Amino acid sequence: MPADYATLAKTIAALTEGETDPVALMATVTCEVHHADDRFDWTGFYRVTEPGVLKIGPYQGGHGCLRIPFDKGVCGAAARTGQVQLVPDVDAFPGHIACASSTRSELVLPVFDGTGALIAVFDIDSDLPDAFTTGDAEALGAILEQVFARDDEPGGQL
Ligand code: SME
Repeated sequence: MPADYATLAKTIAALTEGETDPVALMATVTCEVHHADDRFDWTGFYRVTEPGVLKIGPYQGGHGCLRIPFDKGVCGAAARTGQVQLVPDVDAFPGHIACASSTRSELVLPVFDGTGALIAVFDIDSDLPDAFTTGDAEALGAILEQVFARDDEPGGQL
């Protein structure tokens, strides 16, 4: 079943209300998103922990690699450019990092705090080819903005 994004956004808003700790927020978003859609086989965050480096954050699915430099993989491209990466065929993406050989397509969104600073990327992998649409990217981007770029939320330490 494709995700019901309106319900998902409401559920996540209710669950995260008043919470500002980034890891608590990431864990909750990951769990809710992962279980909302059968296309999502790996769902999780990579956090910006030092300049040019992403480290694994909360995730659901098989094990994810621990460290991704900004110049590597789909996640690195999202972090480097600050742009959503919608990859219909991971084999056609130069430098794709295969954490799971079953992954066929990916959607990676940059995550910004309320000051506009990049704090993480949100990575969803599917075992189905061409699993993601721009509609998915828009709906998930709105949820990430709602949770991580709230006006009342300072950047916070990851
Ligand atoms: N495939 C990603 C790496 C992360 S994992 O798949 C969990 C990439 O190329 O950025």
